[in-house]
Amino acid sequence: MSNKTFYITTPIYYPSDNLHIGHAYTTVAADTAARYKRMRGYDVMFLTGSDEHGQKIERKAKSEGLTPIQYVDGIVANFKHLWEKMLITNDDFIRTSEDRHIKVVQQIFQNIYDKGDIYKSEYEGRYCTPCETFWMDRQLDEGKCPDCGREVELLKEESYFFRMSKYADQLLKYIETNPDFIQPKARRNEMISFIKQGLEDLCVSRTTFDWGIPVPIDDNHVIYVWFDALTNYISAIGYLDDPETFNRYWPADIHLVGKDIVRFHTIIWPIILLAADIPLPKEVFGHGWLLLEGGKMSKSKGNVVDPLILIDKYGVDAVRYFLLREMPYGNDGSYSEGALVHRINMDLANDLGNLLSRTTAMINKFCDGKIPEPSSMQDEDTELFDLAARIPGEVEELLEKMEMAGSLAKIWELVNKSNKYIEDMAPWSLAKNPDTKARLGTVMYNLAEVIRIVAVLCTPYMPTLPNKIYQQLGISDNKEIHGWDSAKKWGSIPYGVEINRGESIFPRIQPEEAEVVQEKADSKPKQAPTEEAANLIDISEFAKVELKIAEITVADKIEKTDKLLKLKVSLGIEERTVVAGIAKHYEPDELLGKKVVLVTNLVPATLRGITSQGMILAASKGKKLSLLTVEKDVPVGSKVK
Ligand code: ME8
Ligand code: MG
Repeated sequence: MSNKTFYITTPIYYPSDNLHIGHAYTTVAADTAARYKRMRGYDVMFLTGSDEHGQKIERKAKSEGLTPIQYVDGIVANFKHLWEKMLITNDDFIRTSEDRHIKVVQQIFQNIYDKGDIYKSEYEGRYCTPCETFWMDRQLDEGKCPDCGREVELLKEESYFFRMSKYADQLLKYIETNPDFIQPKARRNEMISFIKQGLEDLCVSRTTFDWGIPVPIDDNHVIYVWFDALTNYISAIGYLDDPETFNRYWPADIHLVGKDIVRFHTIIWPIILLAADIPLPKEVFGHGWLLLEGGKMSKSKGNVVDPLILIDKYGVDAVRYFLLREMPYGNDGSYSEGALVHRINMDLANDLGNLLSRTTAMINKFCDGKIPEPSSMQDEDTELFDLAARIPGEVEELLEKMEMAGSLAKIWELVNKSNKYIEDMAPWSLAKNPDTKARLGTVMYNLAEVIRIVAVLCTPYMPTLPNKIYQQLGISDNKEIHGWDSAKKWGSIPYGVEINRGESIFPRIQPEEAEVVQEKADSKPKQAPTEEAANLIDISEFAKVELKIAEITVADKIEKTDKLLKLKVSLGIEERTVVAGIAKHYEPDELLGKKVVLVTNLVPATLRGITSQGMILAASKGKKLSLLTVEKDVPVGSKVK
């Protein structure tokens, strides 16, 4: 086991409902950090879980005619299913209803009580049940909860109180002498001024409901749900029973949370720990909110997006990429399906997908399908090489600071540089001249190598992507060049290996906007001046259709259909599979070598289990059909406009 340990946690989420993409963001970000640290040789403990007690859950269960535990069992199973689908590699999952947790919470409560820092008194205050938070009158916002804006309830009861005020100075000192304790910096400043306003003692027990952990000295009371929940971070690693594990991982390296609960983690939690004589965590990182059309997504508002649906539609890597790329460091991010599709099409399909697909197509065509041997480097190569040498270190620095979006942007600098390198080096020209064959080899080798490096760097973010890339580059079995450190060793990819050009790693998706516009156009009443005018399009609309000359290289019948043919067409540097409904009009053999017009930017469609990557133009009337072809010979790949 490695000596270097890394303990990272997510919040334990309320099972008051299923989780949405806001929760998924936190967990995916923590997973990315955990995967990265494992790649760097750390012994990682990555914890997530569920916060199951409290009045909100009790009421919700009742409304569904279930006992609280029946109710949470169902929702928690959904949490776990979601994390599996998102390829989350948590090492443990703590439920606050588990015995191992309950006994630690009771022990901590007892210890603080014995010390005199928990005492019994009369309480009158306002309580926000959805937020499980007490407020002082002066903290209310026009009589409502200052966090969520909802009604608060007046509570008057005998309660146990936690002497938070006693520890305010000690906490302030800790925050001031440990500048990394609260990150990012803006949150730190907010918390400092909050503490400086003075801390009230905290009511840490309730008598108005039962679904909680009993106060050890008084079973009329249950322990306040935040006191209970925060303790998960030590109960899960064996605070009472397993000192070896506890001492190994505690203090935690990072509690990753949303900014909504930074206050609980940087004030209540450290004071519980101070009172219980337990060291404080090294860092609490409060990320921004993922907003939906300008507002906060929340289960209680009902405006949520289900990550499972997105994963089924777009794939887990794409959803993870979007979440990580779209949440700016320290600020809020925004979600829309259009933005997700845009990211997939631009960054993944266009930038990265095309880089791989062009490179493998050219290696196939110009280098007999094998990664060629490089020869001497030229200036342009050195530029690419220098960037590839610099980026991994920069990605590391940003990842260490939990700057997920920034670190991905760094990796994409390398992707974009590589695409530019293809344009500048024009391997297709080098391939024409026997004298530049050695040069061609160097360029293609460099491209294969830089793609390998990108794949390694993407591993923590998009777990299924690297293997797809290694597979295509023919290096799946070369595990020694998949590890993090190998990204810093230029020239690791072996030459002479046979590549396996495959399906595109991220097929393009039709932008959502297009569908929306379409719907609007269809549902419009006929208000255009004349029917002809309504059918006119301007040149920019026509320009959206990408038409290119393609040569048919393979044509086959498809079993059990007399209409469809499966074609392979070449666009020069790229080959595509197209399913065409022309079998009644052409024999497969008569099509070979024909130059046809292909629509190249259509959403791929699956017909008879075959993915069709484009559409061939044909003219037809009645039973007559003719493919469109070119009148003079032009090279494949030529644009039609
Ligand atoms: O607060 N954008 O649980 P919770 C970004 N049980 N992150 C979001 C988000 C959004 N729109 N919505 C939720 C609780 N989150 C307590 C935690 S920990 C000891 C107890 C994420 O189910 C974010 O991490 O309300 C936020 O802090 C957390 O989910 C709140 O989850
Ligand atoms: Mg919440």
